[in-house]
Amino acid sequence: MKMLVTGGAGFIGSNFIRYILTKYPSYAVINYDKLTYAGNLENLRDIENHPNYSFVKGDILNTELLNHVMKGVDVVVHFAAETHVDRSIMGADAFVQTNVIGTFSVMEAARQNNVKRFHHISTDEVFGSLGAEGHFHEETPYDPRSPYSASKAASDHLVRAYYHTHGLPITISNCANNYGPNMFPEKLIPLFVTNLIEGKKVPLYGDGLNIRDWIHVEDHNRAVDMIIHAGKVGQTYCLGAMEEKTNREITDLILQKMGFGEEMIEYVEDRKGHDRRYAIRPYKAMVELGWKPQITFDQGIEQTINWYRDNPEWWKRVRSGEYQDYYKKQYGEKQGMTI
Ligand SMILES: NC(=O)c1ccc[n+]([C@@H]2O[C@H](COP(=O)([O-])OP(=O)(O)OC[C@H]3O[C@@H](n4cnc5c(N)ncnc54)[C@H](O)[C@@H]3O)[C@@H](O)[C@H]2O)c1
Repeated sequence: MKMLVTGGAGFIGSNFIRYILTKYPSYAVINYDKLTYAGNLENLRDIENHPNYSFVKGDILNTELLNHVMKGVDVVVHFAAETHVDRSIMGADAFVQTNVIGTFSVMEAARQNNVKRFHHISTDEVFGSLGAEGHFHEETPYDPRSPYSASKAASDHLVRAYYHTHGLPITISNCANNYGPNMFPEKLIPLFVTNLIEGKKVPLYGDGLNIRDWIHVEDHNRAVDMIIHAGKVGQTYCLGAMEEKTNREITDLILQKMGFGEEMIEYVEDRKGHDRRYAIRPYKAMVELGWKPQITFDQGIEQTINWYRDNPEWWKRVRSGEYQDYYKKQYGEKQGMTI
């Protein structure tokens, strides 16, 4: 099996590659990544010498390079994206380019090279915002409200269109908020944990009562593995661990586990258009694939806090851009470099 993973140097993609090569050491895995501020080969340092792993530095907008790399590939798992909602509010250009046009470009290359499966990684944010009741599921109408979620929604529609129009063998997963090791420290959990390690306050948006449904990255990746191997072509699977929490609850839990009190909370102006509540009903994946989350939020958050405590070099260097400078020096701006 030859697998192409786009965005494999990012948070979820790097955890996915490690998971796949550990479970299926005979699979050949190509990591295709542009190494934006969020992509970091340091995330895969422990497996970079695996005989079946290779890295290609490339932009998903580079159709020529993609076509070249796609030769002989059986399965594409498409993680590459611009992912931070706050950045999409400040400027949506890169989100439209990478998430919409980039997805089109990866799918075209997959179609031209007759891949057997194109799995598209998406988010529950495409469904919009819930009130106090109800859950997102596979039939929920799309109602994206941030430039990030709108760009992901557009990409989901394109992927489905390629299935209906061209018969591209696709699957899609719409997943809840992930957390775990190697998450860029601009997102809520790693930002709060690293701030507290440094004795700084944690900035909590608005009234802190926005609700997200949290899933450990390993549970997400196990589900993607099951979808690739046993999911039905043309289908969408909603993934979540049924761990709804307000941002305030998460903050309190992190503060308590790290030995701080609520004096460390700094309430800041709410995010523009901040969706109030996300919650996923993942029954289809549970019934059809036999998947179920295995890591409770309490266990997962403790493991994640410990990981950031044990790896201060990683997040300090990621935050300062030191790794990016290092890889830029090593590979320059040229695409197609492989290691
Ligand atoms: N993080 C979450 O909670 C979450 C939840 C649901 C779905 N998702 C989806 O999962 C995927 C991965 O998310 P993540 O949190 O790991 O993101 P991330 O920001 O940590 O990583 C994104 C990766 O994509 C790469 N990339 C960006 N633009 C590229 C381009 N033009 N060409 C090639 N590579 C490019 C980056 O270098 C980086 O390695 C995304 O599609 C995201 O929408 C994330």
